[in-house]
Amino acid sequence: MNIEMSRPEPIKPQKGVTVFERGTDVQLTLKSLEAGKTILVTGFYNNGLALLRELRAYLNRKMPNKTFQEQRQYRAAYQKLSNLILLEISDHQLVVKKSPSIGWLKKLYPEKKVFWLSFPQVQGLNSSWQWYVNGISIPVLRNKIHPFYGTYFPTNFEHLVLFDNWLKRYKGAKKTAIDVGIGSGVLSLQMMKHGFQKVFGTDTNPNAIIGLTEFMGDTKLSRKIELDLGHLFGKWEKQTELIVFNPPWLPESYNLDSNIDKSIYYDEKLFPDFFKEAKKRLLPDGKIVLLFSNLAQIANVTKEHPIEKEIAKGGRFELEKCFKKRVKDASYKTKRDQHWRSEQEVEFWVLKHQ
Ligand SMILES: C[S@@+](CC[C@H](N)C(=O)[O-])C[C@H]1O[C@@H](n2cnc3c(N)ncnc32)[C@H](O)[C@@H]1O
Repeated sequence: MNIEMSRPEPIKPQKGVTVFERGTDVQLTLKSLEAGKTILVTGFYNNGLALLRELRAYLNRKMPNKTFQEQRQYRAAYQKLSNLILLEISDHQLVVKKSPSIGWLKKLYPEKKVFWLSFPQVQGLNSSWQWYVNGISIPVLRNKIHPFYGTYFPTNFEHLVLFDNWLKRYKGAKKTAIDVGIGSGVLSLQMMKHGFQKVFGTDTNPNAIIGLTEFMGDTKLSRKIELDLGHLFGKWEKQTELIVFNPPWLPESYNLDSNIDKSIYYDEKLFPDFFKEAKKRLLPDGKIVLLFSNLAQIANVTKEHPIEKEIAKGGRFELEKCFKKRVKDASYKTKRDQHWRSEQEVEFWVLKHQ
């Protein structure tokens, strides 16, 4: 398998760049950032953290940060300026002293000797490395998962518990299933746990496919879960008795950033295309399981619910069951979203042929 990983784009080292270390004038550095100049942090990793703190304090003084719009602007400004703060990597390690050791620098950049990344990118790689190495416990699974860089993994488990309970009572055949948007594989692992013989998984994110391939190695699992990098059903054409999909939960129009995260935001074609293709691939007595949430509705992003819309439209699938469960601690948590918490529910939908 030869799939190109997605990784933060390495920056080519530039001569004569302004550096920031202990003792450098902070105000001048902030002015340079405002002027769009890049700054290389040298000395200690902590110097970079200190500069980021100064940047936040500076933006806090300068920008209101209360209303939804103001917060969005504040975040955009922080993102823009903090990404001008760079770190050097040499021989797969950060050059600054007392810096974390991040294994991704070798795994994602095997061919690169010296390059730069922005400080926030390095912070992202660092947390991802901790999750990958230490693993994440999932209540419904015996073993931890080890999410690969840039791959979605669940931080709330209510919907997984609903799926687990449903699988416990599931009486249908367990020969094959399709897991659309497999991510770090939790739903497939749940199906394995409940005796499914084979799962065909897809994802449009190369890192999900690479990560799971690595995770399974040549264990028994690798013969039971087959993967394809592709849109919706990818190359899987055969009919199965179960199709599961934990799709993105928010419509894309809600996010104005150019960097759209495909595990969170869906475009207007995703659901109609999914149902159209699922119709062809579901065995006559098969079931479709969809994990969803009322997040977009309670955040007032849209009144439309893509699954309800499909059922109401008719012609393809009808509802068999829908369970809902309160979320204890919302996964989309930022300060502004606090009020959503009490109302957020996950939804577990089971559909069958009409
Ligand atoms: C919310 S995550 C769910 C991941 C995993 N199934 C789970 O439940 O933890 C959605 C996943 O769908 C993938 N995805 C988004 N759009 C897709 C598409 N059109 N075709 C296949 N996968 C897609 C994303 O990359 C992401 O891994």
